Amino acid sequence: MANILVTGGAGYIGSHTCLEILNAGHSVIVLDNLSNSSEEALLRVQELTAKSLTFVEGDIRDASALDQVFAAHQIDAVIHFAGLKAVGESQQIPLTYFDNNIAGSISLVQAMERAEVFHLVFSSSATVYGESNPSPYQENMPLGMPTNNYGYTKLIVEQMLEKLSLADERWSIALLRYFNPIGAHKSGRIGEDPQGIPNNLMPFITQVAVGRREKLSIFGQDYATQDGTCERDYIHVVDLAKAHLLALDHRLKSKGCRAWNIGTGQPISVLQMKNTFEKVNDRKIPFEFVERRFGDLASFYADSTRAQTELGWIAKYSLEDMLVDSWNWQKQNPEGYKK
Ligand code: NAD
Ligand code: UD1
Repeated sequence: MANILVTGGAGYIGSHTCLEILNAGHSVIVLDNLSNSSEEALLRVQELTAKSLTFVEGDIRDASALDQVFAAHQIDAVIHFAGLKAVGESQQIPLTYFDNNIAGSISLVQAMERAEVFHLVFSSSATVYGESNPSPYQENMPLGMPTNNYGYTKLIVEQMLEKLSLADERWSIALLRYFNPIGAHKSGRIGEDPQGIPNNLMPFITQVAVGRREKLSIFGQDYATQDGTCERDYIHVVDLAKAHLLALDHRLKSKGCRAWNIGTGQPISVLQMKNTFEKVNDRKIPFEFVERRFGDLASFYADSTRAQTELGWIAKYSLEDMLVDSWNWQKQNPEGYKK
C-alpha cells in the first residue's frame, strides 16, 4: 500500500483515477485549487468506493502549501494532473498557461526533491507528436511542435522531466501520452463537467442530447479521411485511469523517464461519433457542417504496443461503451456537479 499525492485529482481524469487508486488499496491525498472542478467529485469518489481520501485545497505553484502536504503525509509517489487544458484559451492568455502548466510543474518537482519523493506520473498528450508525424504514433518518433500553446506546455514539461531524470538518477518518471479521453464511470456519478461552452466533441454532443445546446457544429467536411471529417483515437476514461496505476507500479520498480501512449489505436471520425451516439443512445443529434477549426489535424491515433507489452495495459471498453457511459453521466447530471 502506498500514499499517492494526486495533483488536480478533483478534475475529470483525476477523479476517475482517485477511484481506481482507492479501490487498489492505496491512500490518496488530492491537491487541487478547484479552478476547473468541484469538491463534489471527490465526495462522490468516496461514496462510490466507501473509502476516504484527504483533500487539500491549494495550488501547485504554492511552494509552502506543497511542503506542508509532503510534511504531513509520507508520500511515496505523485500523479500530476493539475494544469489548464483549453486550447483556444491558451492562445489568448499564454502566460497563464505557461505559469500553471510549466512553472506549476517546476514548483511541484522542486517540492518533490525537497521531500525526497522521486516517483512521478505526468499527464502528457498526443499533441507532443506535432503536425508531421504519420499515425499510428509511436513513442520513439521524434516529437514535433504542437499547434497551440497548451500543447507546447506539455512538450516543454516532458522534455524538462526527461532532462531531470538524466541528470539525477533518483528520479523515476512516467509520461502518459493521452489520446482523446471520453466516457465516465459506469455509475454515472462522476464524469466530465466542462465550464461554459465545451471545446471538446464528446461533452458538446451530450449537451446537445440533453437540450443544453441546439446543435453540434462539425468542424470541416473536406479532410482526407474516410468520410471527410477528422479522425481521433477516443479512449474510455476508466481505461485511462487504470493505466496510471500500472505506470505507477512500473515506476516504483525502475528508474529513468519513459513515455507510453494511452489510446485504443482505432481512428474514429466525427460523423461516426455522432452516428454511433444516436444509435446506442436512441437520441437525435442535430448538426451542421461549419469551417475547419484552426490547428486541427485530419487524423491521429496511437500505437499502444509499448503500453501493452511493458505495462500490461489494454483498453477494455468499446466505442459503444464510451458513448453509453458519457450519456449516462450527462443525463443523470444535466448541469454537471451543480445538480
Ligand atoms: P480537468 O480540468 O478536469 O482537471 C485538471 C484539474 O487541475 C482541475 O481539477 C483543476 O482545478 C486543477 N488545477 C488546475 N490548475 C491547478 C493548479 N495550478 N494547482 C492546483 N490544481 C490545479 O482536466 P482533465 O481533463 O482531467 O485533465 C487532466 C490532465 O490531463 C491535464 O494536465 C490535462 O492537460 C491532461 N490531458 C487531458 C486531456 C483531455 O482530453 N482531457 C488530454 C491530454 C492530456
Ligand atoms: C483537443 C486539443 C488537444 C487537447 C485535447 C484535450 C485542439 C487542436 N486540440 O484535441 O490539444 O489535448 O483537445 O483537451 O484543440 N469537433 C467538432 N465540433 C465540436 C468539437 C470538436 O467537430 O464542437 C471535432 C474537432 O474538429 C476534432 C474532433 O471533433 O476533429 C475532436 O475534437 P476535441 O474533442 O476538441 O479533441 P482534439 O481536437 O483531438
